[in-house]
Amino acid sequence: MSTPGRAAQRRKTSHVLAIAPFRRLWTAMGVCSLGDWLNIIALTALAGNLTQGSGFQAQSLAIGGVFVAKMLPAILLGPLAGTVADRFDRRLTMVVADIVRFGVVLSIPLVGNYQWVLIAAFLVECVNLFWVPAKDATVPNLVPKERLEEANQFNLLVTYGTAPVAAALFAVGSALTSMVTAAFPASGVKPTDLALGINAVAYLVSAVLIFTLRSIPKDHTRQASTLSVLGQIVDGWRFVGGNRVVKGLIIGMLGAFAAGGAVVGVGKAYVSALHGGDAGYGAVFCAVFLGMGLGMFFGLRLLGGLSRRRMFGLSIILAGLTLAAIAVIHDLVIVVMLTVLLGACAGIAWIIGYTMIGLEVEDALRGRTFSFLQSLARVVLLLVVAVASGLAAVFGSHLLAVGGISYQFDGSNVVLLLAALLAVVVGLLAFRHMDDRRGIPIGVDLMAALRGEKFVPEAEEQPRGFFVAFEGGEGSGKTTQSRLLAIWLRDQGFDVVQTREPGSTKVGMRLRAILLDATHQGLSARSETLLYAADRAEHVEKVIRPALKRGSTVVTDRYVDSSLAYQGAGRALEPEEVAQINSWATGGLLPDLTVLIDVPPSVGLRRMASPADRIEAEPLEFHERVRREFRTLAAAAPERYLVVDGTLQQAEVSRLIQDRVREVLPDPVPHEAEAATGTIPAIRD
Ligand code: TYD
Repeated sequence: MSTPGRAAQRRKTSHVLAIAPFRRLWTAMGVCSLGDWLNIIALTALAGNLTQGSGFQAQSLAIGGVFVAKMLPAILLGPLAGTVADRFDRRLTMVVADIVRFGVVLSIPLVGNYQWVLIAAFLVECVNLFWVPAKDATVPNLVPKERLEEANQFNLLVTYGTAPVAAALFAVGSALTSMVTAAFPASGVKPTDLALGINAVAYLVSAVLIFTLRSIPKDHTRQASTLSVLGQIVDGWRFVGGNRVVKGLIIGMLGAFAAGGAVVGVGKAYVSALHGGDAGYGAVFCAVFLGMGLGMFFGLRLLGGLSRRRMFGLSIILAGLTLAAIAVIHDLVIVVMLTVLLGACAGIAWIIGYTMIGLEVEDALRGRTFSFLQSLARVVLLLVVAVASGLAAVFGSHLLAVGGISYQFDGSNVVLLLAALLAVVVGLLAFRHMDDRRGIPIGVDLMAALRGEKFVPEAEEQPRGFFVAFEGGEGSGKTTQSRLLAIWLRDQGFDVVQTREPGSTKVGMRLRAILLDATHQGLSARSETLLYAADRAEHVEKVIRPALKRGSTVVTDRYVDSSLAYQGAGRALEPEEVAQINSWATGGLLPDLTVLIDVPPSVGLRRMASPADRIEAEPLEFHERVRREFRTLAAAAPERYLVVDGTLQQAEVSRLIQDRVREVLPDPVPHEAEAATGTIPAIRD
């Protein structure tokens, strides 16, 4: 029997960037991120340059001031901005924000004093607060649900991937402008001017891209407009607190941020203590981004089948454990390697968090949730960075000597350990809040995910009954055997629904007539596949699922494998595509056991008494291909198949089937009425 809630993994086909509106928004996002990074680098450099000669401490403070100016708006305006994203036209919000940012950034080199650098940094960040939630809330409108995770991967790729590009651009730009100043000292061009120029233009390009993006819906504004601005903020907060999953997500993401803040706060000191210097710090910095990238792209692929909700908490717990190891292992090379793992865990948690908020939060509240999270994250980050460095300084440096071994232990170690503890606790909390597979050990899930089984969320409802399918070629005797099994099962006290494909529903009967009519020779392979899938969809929804839900045992004569064999192999269609269509048609419902009655086609076709239908009339090679495919499918998952030699005596075939069914069948589930009276169910045939 397969692990509950799991189905075989299927490959995705098209690409999220093939969705034109999303591609456009994504491009705008990339251009803006490049601008944002250039902005940070250029403004900190400019602050340093403008305060040159005022001493190391004053210069450090000036650079720190830029960071404070960048953080403040989130603290002051964060929730308001999210409300704007939900209340006003998101497209216009973004376009206006872009134009304002363009103007402000352009003014920096023109004004050219430190106070204005601070004011401009503050203003740009205020505007970003409106732009970002509007963008985040728009993405789920442009891509279908199942593509959201992929879309977020691409978003984060440009958000962080543009950082090194900006750094390189800045280096080249400042080298070029220095050359110009050296050649023409009177020109007055500063090294940061070019970077700020590119930064400003980036925002303008984004404005144009988004302005021409007409497909951003406006409906959400109508719904929200009855509430006042304040009302909406309170409402958004209440929502976050009231939804268990979102609460788990927010706790997890904020905890991860706090732990990250602690690392930022003491990172430089810790690396220096390890004698790493600037290059070592650079390596650790790169390791974080490298790890995040790896986590976002490969971590999710590797564990693609694990429940996202479980993976979220787990990745934060693992991040905590890794951080603890980083805190106590005093070796720069190992620390750098562990930092890659740490980054990977953070990347996985971040992308799942983002995606799940996109899925869980309704459209009208999404902007507020994102900005609520963002502003809180910044507050937490700012506080933790400040507290962490203070705490590390207070603790100071100690040399522990146990036996002959001495161990250096200082404030940065303590802070990192505290951060690790925080991450583990928060990860556990998030896991408990969000667990959607209660009672199933996490180890079982992890192994299944590594084997490539896909997790199907609980919402798709777990059938309770047992599901057996009979498969085989023409004249294999499976129809007889499926009837015999049904009778035997009823004798055992099971409530059995015996059914077949095609043609077990009203619509299915009409489809069957089309499908098997020998005069329909012109039917194309694809329409044949779709008609069988349509019959199956109807069959699953109207007959099989309701029966399983009642606790009945379902025995069907033919199911998905028939399509894989007849249409996939027989008609030589792409098997993966036939599988996909059927997985969609059935909502991923697979039999607990498939009995394949295997006979050579020459034998089976000779057994047929009535005139051949459209499929039976196919040449022998067709039936040979069908048989091979059935056998291949069975060989690939022996735990879910029983292959019986159909040339054996009928009674012998029945016995083999009963033996296997007896092994895998759960105890009989009595009907409610019978359970009440305690009678043994009568045989109904
Ligand atoms: P049917 O008369 O039910 O005969 P059998 O006893 O062989 O099941 O005919 C079903 C025919 O439809 C059979 O030739 C196989 C074919 N078929 C497909 O090609 N694809 C499918 O998905 C299914 C369910 C059946």
